[in-house]
Amino acid sequence: MGETILVTGSTGFIGARLLKLLAEEGASVRVFLRPESAAGALQAKGDAVRGSFGDPEALRRAVEGVDRIVHLAGVTKAAGDAGFEEGNVMPVRNLLAAVKEHNPGLKRFVLVSSLAAAGPATEGVHGVRESDDPRPVSAYGRSKLRAEDLCMEASASVPVTIVRPPAVYGPGDRDVLQVFLMLSKGVLVSAGNSRKQRFSMIHVDDLVRGIMAAARSERSVGRIYYITSAQAWSWDEVIAAARPVLGFRKLWRITLPKPVVFLLGTVVGAVASLSGKPGLLNRDKANELVQDYWVCSPEAAALDFGFTAPTPLGEGVAKTVEWYRREGWL
Ligand SMILES: NC(=O)c1ccc[n+]([C@@H]2O[C@H](COP(=O)([O-])OP(=O)(O)OC[C@H]3O[C@@H](n4cnc5c(N)ncnc54)[C@H](OP(=O)(O)O)[C@@H]3O)[C@@H](O)[C@H]2O)c1
Repeated sequence: MGETILVTGSTGFIGARLLKLLAEEGASVRVFLRPESAAGALQAKGDAVRGSFGDPEALRRAVEGVDRIVHLAGVTKAAGDAGFEEGNVMPVRNLLAAVKEHNPGLKRFVLVSSLAAAGPATEGVHGVRESDDPRPVSAYGRSKLRAEDLCMEASASVPVTIVRPPAVYGPGDRDVLQVFLMLSKGVLVSAGNSRKQRFSMIHVDDLVRGIMAAARSERSVGRIYYITSAQAWSWDEVIAAARPVLGFRKLWRITLPKPVVFLLGTVVGAVASLSGKPGLLNRDKANELVQDYWVCSPEAAALDFGFTAPTPLGEGVAKTVEWYRREGWL
């Protein structure tokens, strides 16, 4: 009998691509769906448990009998600290408790954390390594770090592995889409020192392969990995990759200086907080946007389980734009 993998957050951008990969592999999958989850055809292929992360009985049904868990569910935007705690920390605490009680033989619990938990690098060539002290610069990053700490605290009884993706792009993503939408109109608005900035990125299909390689590696127990492409990109390189597929000739680049970004963040954030919903920008997001080096090192994943991200940026961008056009997003 093959292994059964429990996937949370399966209806999201990364979750959908992970389910696609697991279906191609013929893996046996169980999904955990929250009461409000919008399950589609991919989720219907697996065995599904519905319930909330606050419901111990639903979590028992979710974790019992599975071999590995990939915990993707979480929030990247929230109105405040409480929203990040509820979306990113509480589910991890409760899932780990359910595993301890109902699945002591679990082979692996993979937490999909984020480079935001570590914070930006101080230089743009090598990037942050797993051994560097974390210094998150946002409420999102701090909540992901708290979830990581819970995993490490549980690691004496639960075999945990933490993966920290950088920015993820690919079919189904709505965040990097905003950059493609601007570029397709011949405009690029960025924040901070755009000439200096470098960022790690990974195509979602490379990421889900990396997540599963980490989940199945014997060496990765109790460890943290960046699942990233080897190169850190500049804005000029992203523009060069997008230009042939999007076809823009002239590009109007607007770089907002840091004080302007913080002012915008404060104003937009204050207006959004009146509605109690996360806005597009706030001071916290502004602090993420203005950093110079969102760069991380792929070395440990390459060393421990041979992971390298195979998709070249040009090819990844072309396929993503093709998908956006097919779906009418671009
Ligand atoms: N996209 C990126 O660039 C990126 C980079 C680094 C790390 N990550 C991490 O990767 C994971 C997946 O990201 P994604 O881009 O696929 O995000 P996504 O598209 O927003 O999907 C996240 C999923 O989490 C579940 N969810 C939504 N609200 C929740 C809440 N309040 N509490 C618990 N679960 C909730 C939903 O799945 P269900 O409805 O099925 O429960 C949702 O589809 C997240 O943990 C994120 O922090 C993403």
